Amino acid sequence: MARIEELVAQIGNEHLRKEIAAEVRELKRSKKFGLVFEEHLPETVRLPNLPIGEGDLVARKRERGNQLWHIKGIRRGIATLESAVEGPSPVTQEAPVSDLVAVRRFGDPIYPMLTPIDRVGRGGPEKPWHTLINAENYHALQLLLYCYERQVDVIYIDPPYNSGARDWKYNNDYVDQADSFRHSKWLAMMKKRLLLAKRLLKSDGVLIITIDENELHHLGMLLEDVIGSHLRRMVTIVINPKGAGRYNFARMEEHAVFCIPSSNQSVVNANFLRDLARIGVTEEVIAEEQDEDQEEEEDEDEDEGTSEADDKSTEVEISALRADLPFPPEDIELWTLRHARRRGNQSSYRHQRWRQFYPIFIDPETRTVKDVGDPIPLGQDPSFANRNGYTAIWPIDADGNQRCWRFSSPSMRAALSEKRVAVGRKNQVTGSWTINVWYRKTNTKLVKTVWWHSRHDAGTHGTSMLHQLLGRRDAFPFAKSLYAVRDTLLTVIGDRPNALVLDFFAGSGTTLHATALINAQLGGFRRCILVSNNEPGEVVATRLMKQGHFPGDPEFERVGICQSVTWPRCKAAVTGTRPDGTALPGAYLDIEGHAKQLRIVGGFEENVEYFRLDFINPDDVARGEAFKAILPILWMMAGATGERADSKGTSSWFIPKHSPFAVLIKEKKFREFREKLRERPDINMVFLVTDSDENFALMRRAIGVRYTCFQLYKSYLENFRLNSQNSFAPEAPKS
Ligand SMILES: C[S@@+](CC[C@H](N)C(=O)[O-])C[C@H]1O[C@@H](n2cnc3c(N)ncnc32)[C@H](O)[C@@H]1O
Repeated sequence: MARIEELVAQIGNEHLRKEIAAEVRELKRSKKFGLVFEEHLPETVRLPNLPIGEGDLVARKRERGNQLWHIKGIRRGIATLESAVEGPSPVTQEAPVSDLVAVRRFGDPIYPMLTPIDRVGRGGPEKPWHTLINAENYHALQLLLYCYERQVDVIYIDPPYNSGARDWKYNNDYVDQADSFRHSKWLAMMKKRLLLAKRLLKSDGVLIITIDENELHHLGMLLEDVIGSHLRRMVTIVINPKGAGRYNFARMEEHAVFCIPSSNQSVVNANFLRDLARIGVTEEVIAEEQDEDQEEEEDEDEDEGTSEADDKSTEVEISALRADLPFPPEDIELWTLRHARRRGNQSSYRHQRWRQFYPIFIDPETRTVKDVGDPIPLGQDPSFANRNGYTAIWPIDADGNQRCWRFSSPSMRAALSEKRVAVGRKNQVTGSWTINVWYRKTNTKLVKTVWWHSRHDAGTHGTSMLHQLLGRRDAFPFAKSLYAVRDTLLTVIGDRPNALVLDFFAGSGTTLHATALINAQLGGFRRCILVSNNEPGEVVATRLMKQGHFPGDPEFERVGICQSVTWPRCKAAVTGTRPDGTALPGAYLDIEGHAKQLRIVGGFEENVEYFRLDFINPDDVARGEAFKAILPILWMMAGATGERADSKGTSSWFIPKHSPFAVLIKEKKFREFREKLRERPDINMVFLVTDSDENFALMRRAIGVRYTCFQLYKSYLENFRLNSQNSFAPEAPKS
């Protein structure tokens, strides 16, 4: 900064010097700590399918980057353009309209529709439909928020790792090693999407992001900013046992960062994959002491030796305690005893938690706990005087260190009233007694944080598997191991048979494949939504543009990733047949990691539909002329169940045969519509087309509370307008 000020002082032009000096002062004042990055506002996206007209923001199809223009006028196919960058004198040019493409800034209201492209139905009417959406994921997230706010169980994403290898674009330009804003752009791109994505998560939903060393540390700070209320834990997965890299290190691993709601239960577990588990069982914890217990478990790793020895000694005492158990004696296998005193080095000393330093009074004769005292202030010596003839036990270890109990005194009293506090062994040297607490065992297996299994190898079970599925090599360079994704998902959705899974950086579609595999291996109705853009690789894109083909042209779209890799892969996995019609060879690894000729070799009993996200004119929506276009969105909202039916919306209502929703199109026909609804007890979502809030409220009341109701087209139009503003509101600077 000092250097800048020196340089500023040398500026001859006084006006300019003052202006720049003021800017520098402002910069110094607003200097932020922690994660500091350019927000790169606004991010833009080219929308080749959007018609263009006067006043629109456009770019030249041929130009890379973010050179934007406003159309001032159009005459005989030639547009007069004015540079969108404000300057003292506006730059104007002329260009054929056919050379231009519409551009939208993120945050401009968008009105999305889903254009059906293809589908595969092998799951029957019981199974919901997975969906693949070809879209810029920011827009898709806005749409998904309309449909699924707070409904997603797990978001698994594998964003571009930003290695500098020109493998992703920001504002229509590849980001490479030489770009000094490389990290800044990546962070800006991720932040916008994560802010939307987190609103999709259920209260017990989990966000998982895979990443490598290029952005790991930035991502950690970004997550603290965006989803700081969640616990953030990292699993390291060996994906390339041979190692890769040119200098210094041969990297073998990548990381999966889990953002988990902080609650008093394990949200992730290794119950379905024993080889990812740390231990066989963990114990339930008392809710209000959750944080302490979590730390305790970590602490116990440090002195496991002691804990094992102590646990053996407490076992001896169990038989003597049978008379006063908090459970029927035959349930003893379901319970376990743990030390009531905190151990380990973190937060186990009196000065660290003085409220947890209090006496517990016991009767040594009957070996029962009689009472719990109150904490004493730091500095006051513990009193060993008897109370009512009972002996005071303080949380002091065998070396005389003043530690603390697991709980505060009110919680310890509550545990005592449940007969969960027990007297253990007498220490013959100190003469003191161990105090134990009973816990009910749960079957939760904790997830280990380093995974090293051959099935996670991205070469064999990612790239080569993709080759098998598509019947061609080099289709896509970043495919994950199917089993790495399956195992990651299993930690969250193994025991959620109806889970909703989202991946908005879908790449080759591994996440959908893994979801189908989990359903096949465990049973269930888990549903996956994939979003991918349709970028071709740089080499192909450059060649096509030289030949005069641009995004939006069939020649270009055909070779994009969504169209040429993601969808064919999903289709091949579900049908068990490659694009060339040949049967898929091989077998899937079962959940224990053994190759097994599973029933699913011929494909999966699943349904998948493939859409492209397009945009509609809001005026058409308001006039009710876009019914067909937004119908797939209504079907998605109603859970994507039942084969999707089309309708132009010209009748009085639309009640699809196979899906649990209904739309009243002509308000006047409400009575008949209500009668029809009665014939369909499966319906739980109703859309009522009316411009009148009052009529909506009346109709809603009349059909009863068992339906979730939406006012069309108001909710749709308002949602996207509001969404774009909200999600784009600048955040307060973080310090
Ligand atoms: C690392 S790959 C994901 C690979 C995937 N996990 C797999 O196993 O195949 C990231 C993908 O995100 C896609 N992508 C990048 N930016 C995107 C965006 N803004 N919207 C939608 N997709 C995007 C890229 O096309 C790329 O295919």
